[in-house]
Amino acid sequence: MRGHVRSRAGRAAAPRLIGRRVTLVPFGPDRITDRYVAWLNDPEVNAHSRRKGVHTTAADANRYLSSLRNDEHVLAILVGGEHVGNVKYGPVDWQNACADISILVGERAIWGQGIGAEAVYLVSRHLLTDVGLNRVHADSFNPAFLRLVDRLGWRIEGVLRERVRLGDYFFDDTVVSLLAREFRVIDAFEAPKS
Ligand SMILES: CC(C)(COP(=O)(O)OP(=O)(O)OC[C@H]1O[C@@H](n2cnc3c(N)ncnc32)[C@H](O)[C@@H]1OP(=O)(O)O)[C@@H](O)C(=O)NCCC(=O)NCCS
Repeated sequence: MRGHVRSRAGRAAAPRLIGRRVTLVPFGPDRITDRYVAWLNDPEVNAHSRRKGVHTTAADANRYLSSLRNDEHVLAILVGGEHVGNVKYGPVDWQNACADISILVGERAIWGQGIGAEAVYLVSRHLLTDVGLNRVHADSFNPAFLRLVDRLGWRIEGVLRERVRLGDYFFDDTVVSLLAREFRVIDAFEAPKS
C-alpha cells in the first residue's frame, strides 16, 4: 500500500478555499444567473465539451445542481469577488481514495491568465492534503486544460483514441491525474501569509 486515507472530512460540506487571486465558494442556485446560463450556451466555452450544441436553460442548471450526490461539489470561482466560472469535484470514490475534477471558466476574457490553474490547484490541494485522497483525475480533449494541469505537475496516464465524437469528427480524450505524493505547493497560487 502506497498511502492511506487520513479522513473523510468534507464529505458533506463543500469547502471555501482561498488562493492568491481566486476564492472558491460553494455554488448555489443564487448563482444561476443569466450570465451563468450564457456561459453554458457559449459555443466557444463548450467547444471541448460533450455538451457542445446542447441548449441549457436556468431550469436545467437548477435540476443538475439538485441532482448532485452528497459527495459531488460544485464551487464557484470568484476573482475579485466576481463569479467567473465553476470547478467541480466528485463523486468521491472513497474505496479507492480518488475523485474526478472538472472546470469551466465561463468568462472568456480572462482565459490564459492562470485563473483556471489556480482553481484546479486549490481543489487538488484540498482533496490531496486536507481530505486525504490519494489521487485526483480528469479527462479532457481540450489542449488548454491539458496544458493547465501539466503546469500543476499532473501526469498523462493514457489517451483514449477517438473517444469523443462531435459532429463528424472524433477526438482523442486524454486521461490525466495527480497523486498525493506528487502534490507540490505552488507559492504563486497561495494566499499571502498575513
Ligand atoms: C480550460 C480552461 C479551464 C482554462 O482556463 P484558463 O483560466 O484559461 O487556464 P490557465 O490560464 O490557467 O491555463 C491555460 C493554459 O492553456 C494554454 N492554452 C490556451 N489555449 C491553448 C491551446 N489551444 N493549446 C494549448 N494550450 C493552450 C494557455 O496559454 C495556458 O498555458 P500557459 O499558462 O502556459 O500560458 C478554460 O479555457 C475553460 O473553461 N474552457 C472550457 C471548459 C473546458 O474545456 N474545461 C476543461 C475540461 S474539464
